[in-house]
Amino acid sequence: MRGLPPPGGPAGHAGGLHVHVLDHALAAERLTRLRSTGTEPTEFRRALGQLSRMLLHEATRDLPVRPVAVDTPMGAAAGAALDSPPVLVPVLRAGLGMLDAALELLDGAPVAFVGLKRDEETLRPACYLDAIGADLGGRDAMVLDPMLATGGSGAHVCELLRVRDAGRVAVVSVLAAPEGVEALRRSGAAHSLHTAAVDEGLDPRGFILPGLGDAGDRQFGEMP
Ligand code: PRP
Repeated sequence: MRGLPPPGGPAGHAGGLHVHVLDHALAAERLTRLRSTGTEPTEFRRALGQLSRMLLHEATRDLPVRPVAVDTPMGAAAGAALDSPPVLVPVLRAGLGMLDAALELLDGAPVAFVGLKRDEETLRPACYLDAIGADLGGRDAMVLDPMLATGGSGAHVCELLRVRDAGRVAVVSVLAAPEGVEALRRSGAAHSLHTAAVDEGLDPRGFILPGLGDAGDRQFGEMP
């Protein structure tokens, strides 16, 4: 992993937000598949799941574990137990494509769904589902959304989590725009961002350039 040098801040630490850009040959290859217009939905979903797993490996690197003893066929060994995995927060629709990978790694993690749809005129997120519990009691959370474009959606979810007393909030996105990183930093509600790339910027419609299009549409088709 390498830190992204944010504007005006030390490498990897965007004013309180720790930004990690995954530097890995297979991640670059899967991201290329996601970007390609020739990638059909079935292959897109598969590549998204695989890339999500790689990002999640890094995002979970420092989860707190408890030392435990384990018996191997050869004798006793020291091991580790994960007591309280973070709450997973997939952002509908596109974040659904990251959830299976997260649950494979964190099979005891609770899941809180949030549904957001960005208004095409204002580019502001409209919330149609908020299934986060009333009080997370300081438990850490992990937001799953492939795209951080303007950052409005990511910041909105992080703010919902802050109000419900989440602990550390990690955002995992396949792709980010610099504007989105800055918005997340300004929100002050996220502790870290893990992504496979920070692209050039946004077009006038708020799409990431060069990006990969709309991750929801590319997985599930355009909403009727
Ligand atoms: C996309 C994407 C993010 C959001 C990013 O979702 O999956 O949730 O836009 O944009 P932002 O950073 O400018 O807020 P969209 O609203 O298209 O809904 P979908 O997942 O249902 O396709």
